[in-house]
Amino acid sequence: MPQPCNVVVLLSGTGSNLQALIDATTAEGNPARVCAVISNRAEAYGLVRAREAGIATAVLDHRQYEGREAFDEALIGAIDQHQPSLVVLAGFMRILTPAFVRHYHGRLLNIHPSLLPLYKGLHTHQRVLEAGDAEHGCSVHFVTEELDGGPLVLQAVVRVDSGDTPATLAQRVHAREHQIYPLAVRWFAEGRLKLAGDGSVQLDAQALPASGHVIRH
Ligand code: GAR
Repeated sequence: MPQPCNVVVLLSGTGSNLQALIDATTAEGNPARVCAVISNRAEAYGLVRAREAGIATAVLDHRQYEGREAFDEALIGAIDQHQPSLVVLAGFMRILTPAFVRHYHGRLLNIHPSLLPLYKGLHTHQRVLEAGDAEHGCSVHFVTEELDGGPLVLQAVVRVDSGDTPATLAQRVHAREHQIYPLAVRWFAEGRLKLAGDGSVQLDAQALPASGHVIRH
């Protein structure tokens, strides 16, 4: 049995990805363990999910800080109290400072609702429909200073159907997020997933392609 891997999750909202992580990491044999959940929003439902699972929570309201640097510095302090091996962004809707990203280099993951590098930023489902794309999906990546731009770990592809709306597409993409994020976290916790010095992502000591590992339909 590998050493337990402490994970701190940052979120701003509903926390369905947190729930998927809690469910997966409480399963036997998974070395990842969510030890704290931190939110910039006191009303985030993800905090309720954490408390119900007996996980420590903290709220740092970004509006109480003078600027991004001060907030991120306080956030680092709150996270590092838990000495995590991995920090997971699960719908944490804040742009992070370079200092924050550097501090967690190689141990900071994000999930984004598009097939990156397509559709960085917001309203991805709407934009996919407007573009008439045949496929959409979600991506897990290591976080670097470029917004939604770090090296890819895993992508899940979903088909876009002719009757899809942003809501139906969001629902289907979300379901895939709940599969790929726990998987990526487990790989990391098992020591199988690494960000190499040359910026490539390695799984079992093999460099992944630029798209990461891709799971189709
Ligand atoms: C997820 O769809 C995630 O991909 C997205 O926020 C949602 C959070 O849902 N993240 C981003 O857009 C980051 N750029 P959840 O609170 O139910 O997990």
